[in-house]
Amino acid sequence: MHTDPPLPSPVYSRKNPFPARLLTNRKLTLDGSEKDTRHFELLLADSGYVYECGDSLGVFPTNCPELVEELIRALHASGDEFVPGNDGVPKLLRAALFSDYLITQPSKQFIAALAEKAGGGAPLLRELLDPLRTGDLEKFLWGMEYIDLLHDHPSVRFAPEDFAKLLRKLQPRLYSIASSQKAHPQEVHLTVAPVRYETHGRRRKGVASTFLAERVHDDARVPVFIHSAKGFRPPEDPNTPMIMVGPGTGVAPFRAYLQERRVTGALGKNWLLFGEQRRASDYLYGEEFEAMRADGFLTRLDTAFSRDQEKKIYVQHRMLEPENAREIWKWIDAEGAHFFVCGDAERMAKDVDAALQKIVAEQGGKTPEQIAEYLEAMKKAKRYKRDVY
Ligand SMILES: Cc1cc2nc3c(=O)[nH]c(=O)nc-3n(C[C@H](O)[C@H](O)[C@H](O)COP(=O)(O)OP(=O)(O)OC[C@H]3O[C@@H](n4cnc5c(N)ncnc54)[C@H](O)[C@@H]3O)c2cc1C
Ligand SMILES: NC(=O)c1ccc[n+]([C@@H]2O[C@H](COP(=O)([O-])OP(=O)(O)OC[C@H]3O[C@@H](n4cnc5c(N)ncnc54)[C@H](OP(=O)(O)O)[C@@H]3O)[C@@H](O)[C@H]2O)c1
Repeated sequence: MHTDPPLPSPVYSRKNPFPARLLTNRKLTLDGSEKDTRHFELLLADSGYVYECGDSLGVFPTNCPELVEELIRALHASGDEFVPGNDGVPKLLRAALFSDYLITQPSKQFIAALAEKAGGGAPLLRELLDPLRTGDLEKFLWGMEYIDLLHDHPSVRFAPEDFAKLLRKLQPRLYSIASSQKAHPQEVHLTVAPVRYETHGRRRKGVASTFLAERVHDDARVPVFIHSAKGFRPPEDPNTPMIMVGPGTGVAPFRAYLQERRVTGALGKNWLLFGEQRRASDYLYGEEFEAMRADGFLTRLDTAFSRDQEKKIYVQHRMLEPENAREIWKWIDAEGAHFFVCGDAERMAKDVDAALQKIVAEQGGKTPEQIAEYLEAMKKAKRYKRDVY
């Protein structure tokens, strides 16, 4: 009897993302918080995906349907017009705006087309398109979206097809993986702060973070892929101490590191420095970390709740407390600890780096030149690792 050979299972990747089921969408912040940071669990069963600690998950979002409808109205369209999709294949305007294009931050091509169509009606835009005024254009566009510009220029009309051609492709967003696959073989966990803000009198939503938080219902799937981060792995030697600085959502990969060390029985010392606004409402995974401290798995746990007192206390302030500074120096210099930083790139990572330099200077008695050499050597030896965004 002839039987067909089994079909090979699909190979999932960024090009062919796996449709993952969202198992859990849980608020980590509590009443009284100014944030809405969430814990997500997605099912990877049958994906064939293998991830390591330090990797990120790529998420392909779709846009907010209300914004799609508003744009269709602003274009005086019905949504049923055919336009090129982001792969060039024609699809309905409504579908293309929903899943193919970035429909919030305007492209430069759109600004140029709008200025040209508006003629004398948009003198400022025309001025700002001067290559010498790129900075001013960026400032002008900060917090502005396509919908504002269409409303501000009601006499300008774009044919749906022309509008679609001016849009940029909707890109996936990366999220640090907050679980170890050794502890959760079928799942991947994330820690996400939804981006929400108000500009020009309108409420705005970050595409992917609010897609995860608000728009994945029932059986809907989240297209995902694994983004490998070889440069952000925990130490290979399970006995090597780790110092992890992860304020806010920056704590995500360190939850994964700790899960992995726990499940593999790694004996190295673990030190977590976590920061958020308020202990009562913003201590992300506080119960997990406090339990690890209580049973000694977390050798040290330092928290910096910035808004629990008048003067801000940040993770770098904790690092610089005399006993902590001495211990950090001992861990990194005498015991070969790896030093990790994850979270905000703009301010936190720079300030933490400055604090580390201060420790090397004061505890190690080094000159500015030697500090630079010392930290460079740590980076080269992959003992000072950052994943900042
Ligand atoms: C390696 C890596 C790991 C990451 N890990 C995490 C993680 O674990 N958790 C997490 O939450 N995020 C993480 N991020 C950030 C994440 O990828 C997204 O950038 C974030 O969620 C925002 O995406 P979004 O699509 O929701 O927002 P977008 O639609 O991309 O909107 C964000 C944009 O909105 C604009 N904007 C934001 N605030 C304002 C404001 N107040 N006024 C005016 N304009 C504003 C800015 O232009 C900003 O770039 C990571 C990023 C990287 C690169
Ligand atoms: N690229 C993007 O589109 C995007 C999207 C989302 C988030 N992010 C980044 O991800 C970061 C994480 O966001 P999050 O909401 O989880 O946490 P967060 O904003 O980093 O806040 C976490 C803690 O860090 C404190 N903090 C502020 N400035 C600091 C500094 N210079 N040094 C050390 N700590 C500092 C905060 O205090 P106070 O608040 O009291 O000052 C708070 O207690 C954001 O800061 C943002 O830069 C980027």
